[in-house]
Amino acid sequence: MYCTRNVTNHIHWVGGSDHRLALFENLFPIPRGVAYNSYVILDEKTALVDTVDASITRQFLENVAHVLNGRPLDYMIINHMEPDHCANIEELVVRYPDVKIVATAKAIQMIRQFYDFDLEGRTIAVKENDTLSLGSHTLHFVTAPMVHWPEVMMTYESSEKVLFSADAFGSFGALDGNLFNDEVNFESEWLEDARRYYSNIVGKYGPQVQAVLKKASGLDISVICPLHGPVWRNNLAWFIDKYDKWSRYEPEEQALVIFYGSIYGNTESAATVLASRLSEAGIRNIKLYDVSSTHVSYLVSEAWRCSHIIFASPTYNMNLYPPMEAAIHDLKALNLQNRTVAVVDNGTWANVAGKNMRAMIGEMKNMTMLDNQLSLASSLKEEQTEQLDQMVEAIVSSFNK
Ligand code: FEO
Repeated sequence: MYCTRNVTNHIHWVGGSDHRLALFENLFPIPRGVAYNSYVILDEKTALVDTVDASITRQFLENVAHVLNGRPLDYMIINHMEPDHCANIEELVVRYPDVKIVATAKAIQMIRQFYDFDLEGRTIAVKENDTLSLGSHTLHFVTAPMVHWPEVMMTYESSEKVLFSADAFGSFGALDGNLFNDEVNFESEWLEDARRYYSNIVGKYGPQVQAVLKKASGLDISVICPLHGPVWRNNLAWFIDKYDKWSRYEPEEQALVIFYGSIYGNTESAATVLASRLSEAGIRNIKLYDVSSTHVSYLVSEAWRCSHIIFASPTYNMNLYPPMEAAIHDLKALNLQNRTVAVVDNGTWANVAGKNMRAMIGEMKNMTMLDNQLSLASSLKEEQTEQLDQMVEAIVSSFNK
């Protein structure tokens, strides 16, 4: 049975959701599933904008056939060639053999890499500012390299002011019937997943996202149709502002997060005492995460949200505790910048955790490292109260700067 929604009178959502997939990219936990959006535009000519993941092929094909209602498919616009969106290109070519595939030259090359079917005479390569008329609708192509692959473009439909934004403005999370941002409580139920999606998938490419935002600011946009998550049809400035902050590596909030690793509970105990003292000193909404039991994608997302991060780690095999090393490595790989950081270290006979954390964080851009360090020899002691107080004072005053 088809399951489609009207985005406008002429633009139809024909995507679907996978509620069963445990790991997106076989990497990121998605307890709320994920949506793969695809859209059909009906005019004198018909066009489909991106396909979907292989997991929802059957639903997708029924949706496309329902919306086309017996008409041929004239164009297949491929904004992004990652398999979560491009998995049904050949299936559509088989069903609609006269369809022309419209994509950047790089994307067409990737079609050849992923597929074996004959592309001869089936493709239209487009570049920045090219247009394609469907009748009363005109598609304008806007290249968006590295958001989040090099072949990516966005497609702007000027008569209805709709931006098909590829991965940008997407989110983890299946669509449970509601499609539009104004049909869900986005801030309380979706923002966390949108931030985790952005920071982990696109976070590394902040300058490229900034370049696309600059291009988008010259367009009159009423609707944003991303490839994942809700379609945006109001309050666009609010979400664009999030993207602007995230891609400039600016903290979303003045807030503190503590990431701790703990083998037998002693470093955890010190992190908890520190958090409690910070609360007494006036810091609010502190979040504390165990790096062993929290998937690193959640840590990355919290690092994108918060202005202040405390890393607390024991020494392990003359290095950092492995999950802490992995977490800092990931933050560095994703280009996290502009945070205020403090470290707490622990070691029973040879403590190198503090030195190693400082070295790793020192390689990241614009990180303000507080001089104060809380160093434990196995566990936090009463006689370290002064050291503890000094760290609390340093963190509190860094908030007030
Ligand atoms: Fe949702 Fe980069 O693919």
